[in-house]
Amino acid sequence: MLVAIGSDHGGFRLKEEIKQLMTEMNIEFRDFGTYSTESVDYPEISRNVAQSVANGEFSRGIIICGTGIGVSIAANKIKGIRAALCHDVFSAQMSREHNDANILTMGERVIGFGLARAVAEKWLTTEFAGGRHARRVCQIADLEA
Ligand code: RB5
Repeated sequence: MLVAIGSDHGGFRLKEEIKQLMTEMNIEFRDFGTYSTESVDYPEISRNVAQSVANGEFSRGIIICGTGIGVSIAANKIKGIRAALCHDVFSAQMSREHNDANILTMGERVIGFGLARAVAEKWLTTEFAGGRHARRVCQIADLEA
């Protein structure tokens, strides 16, 4: 699995923590920035991560901002992206099993680092269940047409 990861300044520290987690999990990733806590606008970073997933260059993406909301809204504008904002482990699991979410978003100002690691680990290790859920994911894609 190859993961694209990005954040704005509000999510920079949590991005570094999740990069550490992926290193521990032997998951390959590329960091799309930002690279400090200096203020930046999140839509462009979110778009860059989302496009890299939508075009197949990366299998999944993780994007973090202060709340996780802005990067989620922006990523979901990109065709083919199913970005899920998850701050608990159950939602992370369901977003993969039922929704085949290809991007996880989180908010550094919302969640503690320990829980964020657990959320990301569950999300990264859970597969799509398929079956009836595949039909529904196809229906979501139809909405983009
Ligand atoms: C930046 O201050 C903040 O607005 C951003 O990180 C994010 O929370 C937006 O949704």
